[in-house]
Amino acid sequence: MQPRVFVTRQVPEAGLALLHVECEVTVWEGETAVPRDVLLRQVAQADGLYCLLTERVDVELLSAAPRLRVISNMAVGYDNIDLPACTARGIPVGNTPGVLTETTADLTWAIMMAAARRVVEGVDWVRRGRWGTWGPLLLTGVDVYGSTLGIIGYGRIGKAMARRARGFDMRVLCSHTSVAEAESIGECVDLDTLLAESDFISIHTALNKDTYHLINAERLTKMKRTAVLVNSARGPIVNPDALYDALRSGTIFAAALDVTEPEPLPQDHPLLTLPNCVVVPHIGSASIGTRAKMAVMAAQNLLAGLRGERLPNCVNPQVYR
Ligand code: DGY
Repeated sequence: MQPRVFVTRQVPEAGLALLHVECEVTVWEGETAVPRDVLLRQVAQADGLYCLLTERVDVELLSAAPRLRVISNMAVGYDNIDLPACTARGIPVGNTPGVLTETTADLTWAIMMAAARRVVEGVDWVRRGRWGTWGPLLLTGVDVYGSTLGIIGYGRIGKAMARRARGFDMRVLCSHTSVAEAESIGECVDLDTLLAESDFISIHTALNKDTYHLINAERLTKMKRTAVLVNSARGPIVNPDALYDALRSGTIFAAALDVTEPEPLPQDHPLLTLPNCVVVPHIGSASIGTRAKMAVMAAQNLLAGLRGERLPNCVNPQVYR
């Protein structure tokens, strides 16, 4: 009998095709996240769970899933998963590092540039028929070339940002990293120095209890008034109320967000009323090629776990000790 797996959304066919060879596959076909009650019902029968960052994998879910042998998250981040609880039950958890690094850095760079040079406002200006004439003061932004980029969290994506910064002749500062790691391109500094000296502050650290609301009202006041804050990591690293106040009062120049708290951001959220806040819907890794690679990688993790093999990318290797 083939193992049963539950896939929590339609994912690229390349990943699903691999699963179909060895498993009995059920896919949640909805366009939004699988409702919690459906998820709990489905995992009751599942040997493997192929999930996304939209699913909370916690003790309640694990208790409802007596047969579960492996969990594969189609994402590099796994803050949606209670890792200690999975480890305590001997369930390996897989993620998809590496394949989305450059794609996510590309998107981060794009929204950073958009916020700096007021691209979204400019598009809106033209579409609303407000483009009357060329103007010396019209939609003036801040320069990216030759400025200072502060990277909070110098992991794979942070380093990919630093490589892009070289082409823009930028000084690169990093915090939340070890000196050895930073030496390659950036200067490793403490967070206060990074906040005070950077023109662009880009967040690339994981979300955990230490980074929750790391960017709060006090830290926003430590930034330059011309600073642009960029977040493509996880929304709750930035306090949205504090950010709203800072953007509205001119404490900082602009923000570019691929991730928000909450997600999705409701259409009537105050941040969406601000012209100096560029928000896109968590699409950092959303290129066709990268999403296919993520889907395959997640399938390979799941299949390895079902076969009793070590996951190629396991975030709780303690299960193997
Ligand atoms: C991740 O992988 O963690 C991103 O947030 C989605 O690609």
